[in-house]
Amino acid sequence: MLNLSPRPRNRLYTDLNSYTQFFGYVLGGRLIDSKKDIERFEHELRLRFSSRHAICVSQCRIGIYFAVKALIKPGQEVILSPYTIADVINMVIFAGGRPVFADVDRSTCNISAMDVEGLITANTGAVLITHLHGVAAEAHRIKEICDRANIPMIEDCAQSFGVKEQGKPVGTIGEVGIFSLEMHKNLPTWRGGVVVTQRDDVMEKIQAESQNFSTSPLPLIFTKLKSGLKHDLVTSPIFFPLIYPILRFSLLKNVEAINKTTRRKPQESEAASELPDVYKSYYTSFQARIGLSQLKQVDTNIEKRIEYGRMYHEGLKDIDELILPPLQADKSITYLWYPLQCPDREALRTFMFKHGRDVALGHFINNADTPKFEEFYRDCPNARQVAQDLLYLPTYPSYSRRDVEKNIEVIRLYFNSQAKKMESEKIKPEKVLLNS
Ligand SMILES: Cc1ncc(COP(=O)(O)O)c(C=O)c1O
Repeated sequence: MLNLSPRPRNRLYTDLNSYTQFFGYVLGGRLIDSKKDIERFEHELRLRFSSRHAICVSQCRIGIYFAVKALIKPGQEVILSPYTIADVINMVIFAGGRPVFADVDRSTCNISAMDVEGLITANTGAVLITHLHGVAAEAHRIKEICDRANIPMIEDCAQSFGVKEQGKPVGTIGEVGIFSLEMHKNLPTWRGGVVVTQRDDVMEKIQAESQNFSTSPLPLIFTKLKSGLKHDLVTSPIFFPLIYPILRFSLLKNVEAINKTTRRKPQESEAASELPDVYKSYYTSFQARIGLSQLKQVDTNIEKRIEYGRMYHEGLKDIDELILPPLQADKSITYLWYPLQCPDREALRTFMFKHGRDVALGHFINNADTPKFEEFYRDCPNARQVAQDLLYLPTYPSYSRRDVEKNIEVIRLYFNSQAKKMESEKIKPEKVLLNS
């Protein structure tokens, strides 16, 4: 059972093309930069989403900022999930909105339609739903609620490129959908995002606002490239078998200096009252070329993720202690990871490492509880629990079926050993009584 060279918890989709495109751009490509490739990429995205508009932006979060700003009046409330990256909430604030946290549903980790309905007031400007982990967030149901109240719905699809709900791509169910093209996502172009919408007025506002954005994106893309390169090297089949035993040792022996290097922390902005200049940058043509090439493989990759999601579901569905995402056979779940909720997740992770597996803990927090957003505090018990219980099981396409099977075996072994332990603890007191 013990295997000290499992496949890593995560690998990127970067390839030689992603690196050469970047260096070509740095070494002069930007001097002859034309918008043609961006237009081609946006055209392909419009076709894919049957959407009137698709516009590439420097990051998904900036697309969220644009969408909120275009749709609400300053000071209006925006209902959203607290279980997301802090910068999404910052963008709502920078765009003039007041965040109102709705709790999430335990099994999907997405905003609860019922909670949203109860929070709508005369001052609600928009509802922002997040399709987390590639799991569709009841967008049709929430859209109906929004329509009744005459409120626009915005979809944060950062983690959900390729997800469909009732046959419709997420991102096209509400007024505006925003996808992330960051390097850990399904369609990576180092950094970036794309906004899709049918509404001409929203698109005009976005175009007008983004025209003033002139911060060079290169330093920020370079930072992504450096961390991508590190990630690609560490997780490569050559180095990972050497590195995994170190990771395993440091996790089992609590070597914080090493553990902290592998912990993912979502980036967020400095405290500010309006959008900091560092965000005012633009999308580049070399990224669009990477996007065009990534588009060719995105659907095959998604199929693989769905296959692995189903395997985890079948292998784990009878373990009562676990909360799994619902199983859907209609592409409404495409599993950017397999989100598994387990009481005492650290104990399960340690057990998995002891048995030579590599998995990660969920890294999002419940922002409704954080001092940073104290002013907007609302009790969201489900989001709090999800933040404590979530583990990511790997689903990326170059992961192997055998590794998925091994993860399932080890998780089952953990719960069997827990059950045996409890059983023996039950027996012990009786023995003591009999002996006395
Ligand atoms: C749910 C969610 N929303 C928004 C974002 C922001 O995406 P970007 O980094 O492209 O701005 C992320 C990034 O991880 C995310 O996970």
